[in-house]
Parts: sequence; structure tokens; C-alpha cells
Amino acid sequence: MRDAIDLAIIGGTGLYRLAELESPQALSLDTRYGAPSGPLRVGELGGRRVAFLARHGESHSVAPHRINYRANIRALADAGARRILAVNAVGGITEAMGPRVLALPDQLIDYTYGRIASFCDEEGVDVVHVDFGDPYDATLRQKLIASARAAGVALVDGGVYGCTQGPRLETSAEITRMLRDGCDLVGMTGMPEAALAREAGIPYASLCIVANWAAGCDPDPHEITMQEVLDNVAGATAEVPALLRELLSRLD
Ligand code: HPA
Repeated sequence: MRDAIDLAIIGGTGLYRLAELESPQALSLDTRYGAPSGPLRVGELGGRRVAFLARHGESHSVAPHRINYRANIRALADAGARRILAVNAVGGITEAMGPRVLALPDQLIDYTYGRIASFCDEEGVDVVHVDFGDPYDATLRQKLIASARAAGVALVDGGVYGCTQGPRLETSAEITRMLRDGCDLVGMTGMPEAALAREAGIPYASLCIVANWAAGCDPDPHEITMQEVLDNVAGATAEVPALLRELLSRLD
């Protein structure tokens, strides 16, 4: 194994590079599941070894249902990632989850289909049934909450992330059903990523960036433009480096 990576960040829509990484090196890794979404950019931040991977590729060319989640997680595991912070752009369903909110979900519901969701998906492997009752790592979540407080970054603690198949957005009826199910946030990339990280034994948490109100949830309904979504993601993403610096100072 290479030198351990203290924190691996998987960037989602609107976060394709981590400009703050010092002395970054690009690792083009290959895995038995194929190539990850792009190079792993490994460098230093706050005196820690940090890696960055753009989930959709660095030019946002891989749709959520076509991401090779197994290759991404396997590549991070092979590179020695000790923990993963996933950044996910989402739609907000419940009142506290308006555009530009940063949220740290503590539960998820998986509505995806047809994605390879396990490393046990081939013959001859020992099938394991990992405990996934709490899908996000409690220690990493607590450190993120403390970091946000110290950095003065507003972060909603908790919420249920519902993962849909995409790439289309949901219908209003689908969001109404998700609300009944208990979902606060809706995204397309949280699964199977979180489950694969659990199978690989890597502590994982998701930092959600609310890009828009989910279908039918806008208290002031208007047509959402792509520009508005990107502006919201960019506005909230501007808070991420301060949060990361605090987090890195708290990792063991
Ligand atoms: N639905 C699903 N995924 C999303 C959304 C949404 O409204 N916004 C950003 N990612």
C-alpha cells in the first residue's frame, strides 16, 4: 500500500478540482473493476495527505447511473484512503433544506436500480452482509459538526438522503412519496457509493450541498435554470475549504 491518505474527497456536481491542494500529483489508477472517474489528485492540505477525485469526471461527463462506483471506491482503498468525505449536490425537500444549505445527512434510502451495488457481485467471492444500519460514519460526522462550528460555517446536522436513479430530476409525485418516506434531501449519487465504502471498511460521510428545491417544494415556485443551480452550488461550495481546514486539524 502507498502512504496513507488522511482524507479522500469525492467531489460532485460543481466541485471538480480542489484548488487548495498543495503540490498535487495526479495518480492514474486502474482497478480490477476498471478505471475510476478520473485521476486521483493527491497533495497536502493543512499538513495532511489529501486526495481528490471528481465523481463525474473532471469535465462532468459521467452521468450518475454510469459512474463506476466500484472502481472509484476500490481506487481510493488501494491508494490508502483512511476516510472519505463525499460531496453531493442535492435537491431540498423539507423546510430546513433550502438552496445553498450545507447538510450532513445521518440516514439514507436507496431508490436506485441496476447499479452494481456490492463488491460481492461476482462468482467465487465470499459474500458479506455488512452492517449498514447507520450508513454514515459517526466519528467523521461528529468531527465535521465540530469543524463547522469552529469555522463559523452553517451546517444542518442530520437528515435522510434519498438516492434516485436520474439523470432526470424527479416528478412532484415522486418527491411527495419521498417526503412521506421521510426523505429530507434528494440526490443521485449517494448510492451505492456509501455501501461500497462500508464494504471496503472505509469510514464515509456525505456533505450535501442543496442546489435547488426538489420538484414541487419551492415555496415561491418558478422555473429553475441551470445557471441558478450552478450559482447555488458555487455559493455553498465557497464554504467548503474553511470547513476542510478545520476538519483536517481534528483528524487523528
Ligand atoms: N434531484 C435529484 N438530484 C439532484 C437535485 C434534485 O432536485 N438537485 C441536485 N441534484
